[in-house]
Amino acid sequence: MSTPDLVVVGSGFFGLTIAERCANELGLNVLVLERRHHLGGNAYSEADPETGIEVHVYGAHLFHTSNEKVWEYVNRFTSFTNYQHRVFGQYAGQVYSLPMNLGLINQFFGKSHTPDEAKALISEQASEIDTADAENLEEKAISLIGRPLYEAFIKGYTAKQWQTDPTKLSADIITRLPVRYNFDNRWFNDKYEGLPVDGYTAWLEKMADHPNIEVRLETDFFDVAEEWKGRVPIVYTGPVDEYFGHSEGRLSWRTVDLEAEVKEVDDFQGCAVMNYNDQDVPWTRIHEFRHFHPERTYISGKTVIVHEYSRFAEDHDEPYYPINTADDREKLLRYRELAKKEPMVLFGGRLGTYKYLDMHMAIGSALTMFENKLRPHFAEGAPLT
Ligand code: FAD
Ligand code: NA
Repeated sequence: MSTPDLVVVGSGFFGLTIAERCANELGLNVLVLERRHHLGGNAYSEADPETGIEVHVYGAHLFHTSNEKVWEYVNRFTSFTNYQHRVFGQYAGQVYSLPMNLGLINQFFGKSHTPDEAKALISEQASEIDTADAENLEEKAISLIGRPLYEAFIKGYTAKQWQTDPTKLSADIITRLPVRYNFDNRWFNDKYEGLPVDGYTAWLEKMADHPNIEVRLETDFFDVAEEWKGRVPIVYTGPVDEYFGHSEGRLSWRTVDLEAEVKEVDDFQGCAVMNYNDQDVPWTRIHEFRHFHPERTYISGKTVIVHEYSRFAEDHDEPYYPINTADDREKLLRYRELAKKEPMVLFGGRLGTYKYLDMHMAIGSALTMFENKLRPHFAEGAPLT
C-alpha cells in the first residue's frame, strides 16, 4: 500500500467495521495497526491445539442483538447457529438455573410457588429496606430482592467480581436486579442470537478481506504515531487515556484471568457457563467451550474448561470492564475535551470511549461513525471532527 487514506488503530469489531465500510463503500485504502499478534480484538478465538475445540481467548463471547441494521450487516460476513445462551449457578452444593426465575425460587425455598405467590414472597422480603434509603450495594440489592436471594446469588459473586465487600461498593453499581416470575431461563432477550458458524476469527478475517485493507500485526501505534499523526485521518480504538500519555490520570478497569485446561472427560459440567456464587470458591465462573457448538462433532473423551477470576487491572493487564468511579468520570470528561481538540483523530470502540460495549453495540457505533463522520468527510469534504 502506498499512502493510506485512513489509519485505523485496533482491529477489533469497531476498527474492522470502520475499515470494511471505508474500503467497500468509499474505495479508500485503509491501514489497520494492531499491536497483538492476531486481528479481531477481544472477540478473537482459536482452536485449542489438543482438542480442536474453539476457545474464545479473551473470555466467552455470545452474539445477540435486536438492531436490524447490525443484524443485516453482520450476516454479510458469517451465518449464525441457533445457539441460545443459558447460565447455571452453584451455591451451597446445589445448581440453580439463572437468571433468577421461578425455577430458582422454588428450588431455593424448597417449595412450589405460583408467579403471584413468588412475587408476594420476594416483595415481602425486599420490604426490609427502602430502595431510596440504600447506602451501599448490599442494601440496594436487599431492597430489591430481599436478603435470602441476595446472600445466595449476589453477595459472594459480587464480592469476587469486585474484590470488595458489597457494603463498601456504591449502590449505583446496580439499578435493577431482574427476577423473572416464570420459568424462562434464556440469558438474553434480544430478537437475534447465535454464534458464528465457522467461529469468530473466520468472521473477523472476512471483514478484513479486501484488497484495499492492510492489517499490520504486532505494530503498536505509539511506535509509529509520528508517521501518521496530522498527516492522515486516524480512527483510534485503543485506550483513550493511553493516547494522551495518561495526562489526566489512569482510568480504572477490571480485568479477568482466564485459566484453560483440558479435562479427560466427555463433558465436565453439562453446560457452557457455570457461575460460582459461594464466596469461598475463588473463581467466578467456569466456561466449557464445547457446549457453545453442540452442532459440531468435537472429539470425545476430552473437553476444554476455563476458570475465570476477576480483579482490578494493573498497568500492564488487559483492560476489560470500566470501573467508572466518580473520579473516572471526571477524568473521562477531561479526556473527551482533549479528544475533541485532537486534529484528524476520531476515538471509538470500548477502549477509546471507556464504555462497556457488547459486540453489536461496538459494530452499531462504528456504523454510525462511518455514516455521520467518515462518509461526509471523504465523500463531501466535510471537516473531520
Ligand atoms: P477490542 O476488541 O478491545 O479491540 C481493540 C483493539 O485495539 C485490540 O485488538 C487492541 O490490541 C488494539 N489496540 C489497542 N491499543 C493499540 C495500539 N496502541 N496500537 C495498536 N493496536 C492497539 N460482547 C458481546 O456482545 N457478548 C459477549 O458475550 C461479550 N463478552 C465479553 C467478555 C469479556 C471478558 C469482555 C472483556 C468483553 C466481552 N464482550 C462481549 C464485548 C466485546 O469484547 C466488545 O464489544 C468488542 O471487543 C469491542 O470491540 P472494540 O473494537 O471496541 O475493542
Ligand atoms: Na424494598
